[in-house]
Amino acid sequence: MRIGCLHNLPRVSLGHSPTPIDEMPNLSRALSQDGSELRLLVKRDDCTGLAFGGNKVRQLEFYLGEAVAQGADTILITGAVQSNFARLAAAAARNTGMECHIQLEERVNNPSPLYKNSGNVLVDKLLGATLYSFPEGEDEQGADRNLEEIAQTLRADGKNPYIIHLGAGHPPLGALGYVVAAEEIMTQLAESNLSIDEVVVASGSGATHAGLLFGLRALGSSIPVKGICVRRAKDLQHKRIVNHCQAIANLLEMDNPVINDDVEVSDNQLAPGYGQMNDAVSEAMQMAAHHEGLILDPVYTGRSMAGFIQRARESNQQKTLLFIHTGGQPAIFAYEADLGPLLSS
Ligand SMILES: Cc1ncc(COP(=O)(O)O)c(C=O)c1O
Repeated sequence: MRIGCLHNLPRVSLGHSPTPIDEMPNLSRALSQDGSELRLLVKRDDCTGLAFGGNKVRQLEFYLGEAVAQGADTILITGAVQSNFARLAAAAARNTGMECHIQLEERVNNPSPLYKNSGNVLVDKLLGATLYSFPEGEDEQGADRNLEEIAQTLRADGKNPYIIHLGAGHPPLGALGYVVAAEEIMTQLAESNLSIDEVVVASGSGATHAGLLFGLRALGSSIPVKGICVRRAKDLQHKRIVNHCQAIANLLEMDNPVINDDVEVSDNQLAPGYGQMNDAVSEAMQMAAHHEGLILDPVYTGRSMAGFIQRARESNQQKTLLFIHTGGQPAIFAYEADLGPLLSS
């Protein structure tokens, strides 16, 4: 079944797919309670291949497709200092023969020297990206305006930059990568005769969450998709996902199959705020590592796994739950100051 004009839009191939859906038998046993028999699965989108992988590889296939179609020679992107998206945009740019310029937003207070220099930042530098600092961490509109100013300077230097904005109001091209992932998941489920009761995924810019939800509904699936908020409170995030789904429908020139009640978000794991660890994140990272040898990150997948564990603990019947591992592992090296002391105790 084809979804709108999805496969006619400009796209470059950057990642490895399909990514596997693996069983997590040890975690399933550890979280099953009397009366509940859990089957916990993980979609390994941390294994998408390019420069340590992650969900943004699928998203960048559409952004870079558009950049190539526009004859761009430079990718310009904004993100948090430890942005996985920026790291992967730099890798995607290199892979496609372009330069990359990255605006790093200082969203985390009192960052450690490792936060500022290691993890994704080190990889950005290895990829030869040009880095700019944007001190107002929580000013999405301001970050986008500043990005335009950098673009003007690049144009004045004779370059043709393609800008990847993060602010709402720009077409969520990257979400199309997760409409493709929904097709992939539905094919994998059919091939292995598997049915799942729920999908759990990190919800940040919302492109992954909205793309998956849209794709599943467009394919006639009613599997619930729980978005775990990693940046904003649930009301704002709900609105964002609703808007993204309509924007995806516009991009694909089709009716929107998602109704507002389909959009499920939880901000139970969000405190104390973006990029900051809490006890549930720390527990989730250690449970995944100890039971499955699965490495999560402190910003996104540690949080979404904390939400997944909460869903598993709430289940009092036989259920099959699918966790989307969206990557982000390079950041663990930047979080030594937060993570290290928890592990040695
Ligand atoms: C590792 C990782 N997981 C999840 C997300 C959230 O994805 P989205 O921005 O599509 O909501 C991000 C966003 O940067 C990420 O880097």
